[in-house]
Amino acid sequence: MAVLEILKAPDPRLRQPASEVTTFDDELRAFVDDLEETRLHGPGAVGIAAPQVDRLQRVVIVDCSHTRKPVPNHGHLVLINPEITEWEGHEIGREGCLSVPDYTGNVFRASRIRLTAQDLEGRHQEFDMEGYEARAVQHEIDHLDGLLFLDRVVSRRTDLFQRKTYRKAGEPAG
Ligand code: NI
Repeated sequence: MAVLEILKAPDPRLRQPASEVTTFDDELRAFVDDLEETRLHGPGAVGIAAPQVDRLQRVVIVDCSHTRKPVPNHGHLVLINPEITEWEGHEIGREGCLSVPDYTGNVFRASRIRLTAQDLEGRHQEFDMEGYEARAVQHEIDHLDGLLFLDRVVSRRTDLFQRKTYRKAGEPAG
């Protein structure tokens, strides 16, 4: 296992769309182990996406089971080729990102989503998610499409905040 280097904005590599995973093998599993170690390194984050470590594939890890305030969640998830198939409602919430370490921002996201994804063996799964976990997944899927939360802040003037200490508030970082 290894901690991988996290690309930071404005690195242009964060702006490229990632390709679908078609091979579910030991190499993919070894990469996901490294991605997980990277997610947990340093301040830790609820989520991480493969493009953040310079691998342009549709791979995401999300784990909302250790938040300070408990939230509805599905535990530790490795999501391969995740797709949101239904959106419902919307709410504003604060987000951070390992690739944007100096800022947090207020972002609109759907309150509830239905998600399909494959697991590490390539099996198809479906999830209904809400709130914080739904937000984390929407944030990570954006990374797969070359988007950052900075692109979605409600207003750059009033909804983007410089961090005083990293991850003080425990907001989603990924
Ligand atoms: Ni992020």
